[in-house]
Amino acid sequence: MAVVHDPVMVAEVVSALGCRPGGLWVDATIGAGGHAAAILEQTAPDGFLLGIDRDREILELAAGHLGPHAGRFELVQGNFGELEAILARTGRGPVNGVLIDLGLSSLQLDLPERGFSFRADAPLDMRMDRGQPGTALDLVSSAREEELARIIFEYGEETRSRRIARAICRERERGGAMTTQRLASAVAAAIGGQGPRGGRIHPATRTFQALRIAVNRELEALASALAAIPALLAPGGRACIIAYHSLEDRAVKQAFRALTHRARAAEPAAFTLLTKKPGRPGEEELRRNPRSRSARLRAIARAA
Ligand SMILES: C[S@@+](CC[C@H](N)C(=O)[O-])C[C@H]1O[C@@H](n2cnc3c(N)ncnc32)[C@H](O)[C@@H]1O
Repeated sequence: MAVVHDPVMVAEVVSALGCRPGGLWVDATIGAGGHAAAILEQTAPDGFLLGIDRDREILELAAGHLGPHAGRFELVQGNFGELEAILARTGRGPVNGVLIDLGLSSLQLDLPERGFSFRADAPLDMRMDRGQPGTALDLVSSAREEELARIIFEYGEETRSRRIARAICRERERGGAMTTQRLASAVAAAIGGQGPRGGRIHPATRTFQALRIAVNRELEALASALAAIPALLAPGGRACIIAYHSLEDRAVKQAFRALTHRARAAEPAAFTLLTKKPGRPGEEELRRNPRSRSARLRAIARAA
């Protein structure tokens, strides 16, 4: 297995964070460490990186990949929704730059046993942190039909959520374990095999996204991080967030706007928006890494 899966918009991230020698840099979603390696290179010889991920297995890969920078980084298993507490625990701060590259690593997506994808048949797990209770199977087995419909509607932005929830409940009544492909087939059968965007996307894609967001309480973690980041940044410090779907991107956009809007209305500008429009991958990157197509990068800077 390749250790590093194409990190998205690396040059743009390094530039948005304003990486330079020295300082404290936080990669709050370190994954396999692609962005982190670039940050460590740009902040050499004495910049320090704190790398966080919920997924212990992924952290081991990052540790291997960042070996050449030993002594300049620390890895912590944790949820970026608890960023303030993690920084306090490690005794580090204030932060010169923080990166949040949301969503899943392709390593997680590509491992069938993690249960994120319906390309292989596997138990429905979907936990980023396998030490936490509550798998997607638990959710799908126990939630009431209305609750499933709400999750699929809100987190999947799926307009056919009621039909899908009814089909899932009917399928589970038939007994036996609900697996990734069994769930995907039930969804496809319920909505006629036609996915979003004119059928180019599998009909179960939005449902899988919704369940994953619910299982990992992803929007709650993002909201907590967005609330905590302003106070954690050093003067001149920056935050850069890459989102992959509109729910996340909207939350980032609104939080950043609120910070910088307040700055416009009040006296001294405390924060500046570095991205009036979100950064998008260039054509070359899209060709090389089609999974980058939905990425939206937004960044703010605290006044120096
Ligand atoms: C898109 S990948 C990051 C890839 C990484 N930037 C790289 O260069 O390889 C997202 C990572 O964030 C982690 N993650 C997602 N939500 C998290 C959270 N709330 N707290 C900590 N890590 C999280 C996932 O486990 C995954 O490894």
